[in-house]
Amino acid sequence: MSTPMVSRPLNSHLAQVFAQYPIEVAHGEGVWLYARDGRKILDFYGGHAVAGLGYGHPRWLAALERQARQMTFQTNALPMAIRERAAARLAKFAGLGLDTVFWVNSGAEANENALRLAFKITGRGKAVALEQGWHGRTAAAGAVTWGALEKWYGFPRTPFDVSFLPRDKPAAVERFVDRETAAVIVEPIQGMGGAYDVGKPMLQALRRRCDEVGAVLIFDEVQCGMGRTGAPFGANYHGVVPDIITAAKALGNGFPVSALLLSPRVARELKYDDMGTTFGGGPIACAAAEAVIETIESESLLANVRQVSTYIRSTCVIGPITGVQGAGFLLGLKTSRPAKEVHAALLEKNILTGTSADPKVLRLLPAYILNEGHVDQLHDALSTISA
Ligand SMILES: Cc1ncc(COP(=O)(O)O)c(C=O)c1O
Repeated sequence: MSTPMVSRPLNSHLAQVFAQYPIEVAHGEGVWLYARDGRKILDFYGGHAVAGLGYGHPRWLAALERQARQMTFQTNALPMAIRERAAARLAKFAGLGLDTVFWVNSGAEANENALRLAFKITGRGKAVALEQGWHGRTAAAGAVTWGALEKWYGFPRTPFDVSFLPRDKPAAVERFVDRETAAVIVEPIQGMGGAYDVGKPMLQALRRRCDEVGAVLIFDEVQCGMGRTGAPFGANYHGVVPDIITAAKALGNGFPVSALLLSPRVARELKYDDMGTTFGGGPIACAAAEAVIETIESESLLANVRQVSTYIRSTCVIGPITGVQGAGFLLGLKTSRPAKEVHAALLEKNILTGTSADPKVLRLLPAYILNEGHVDQLHDALSTISA
């Protein structure tokens, strides 16, 4: 997010670390945000890719309420049917043979654990990540995030060595990934990097090389997973299967939950105490994840994402938009002038979009229930903004 526009009340007790858009949200419904000042805003940002089902989806609300009444929380030391059921549902939804699930709470925590497993399993000391990749703000996830050290990392040193591979150079993979590499972590479709599809050739090159040298391949699907590409995961979208997938954001539709999906190769190495968590696998979080998957499947939302994404591509290259990149509902609209100017102009017309680390890319991360009528409104607004 790079459009600071609102000043905070002088008496705010909140840490002043977020640039904020000038909308005070009162409530949301579907793809609509209702601001305290009376505006109704069409949301193409989805709470930063979290609100996959949109706001207030009845099936999701009912699942949360049901679970909260039945049992709000229990530790992983006590077995619970909802935890098992949600794990089975997630593994089946992915359909990739990554059938062991570990529940945690956030994207960074999922990546932190995935990296830890890779180091433990291989006994090696190096990681490879991609330029422009984003993996979170904890010590290990931040270490593999492009540009973090220069911008905000803060820890005195990274816990392991990392090299960053150019995202468009599959031919360079062999040079970067070697027998000292424990893990390669990659977003199949980069989010912060500008909704940039890393592409099948790169993912295949990484898969091949990890197999050759025995490194663990991690797909960070925190942003691009859980149906956002119009396929269950980026792995399905590109037909390349990693050793570990991390999922978060749309997995809970706003209730904090993340997960690792592990291949048999990784799962078979696990011993008691290798990982742990208090809140991970909490029953409400698992009920939220189960309801998200149920809804995606029963309302054919993957098909909707594919169809409406195609419609965006075919109608929204207009005004300041010169092209579209990305996949499904993780789209980057390339802009002829700074994306934050287009973002601000759209917001004046009550349409919320996102920016990215690429100053010439406007990011769309809408709910999977978005329809072509909503896209027409975006089209009409864009057509009134000068190039
Ligand atoms: C691809 C990706 N990985 C990891 C993260 C970190 O997730 P969280 O903020 O839940 O820790 C993000 C957050 O934007 C992300 O986009």
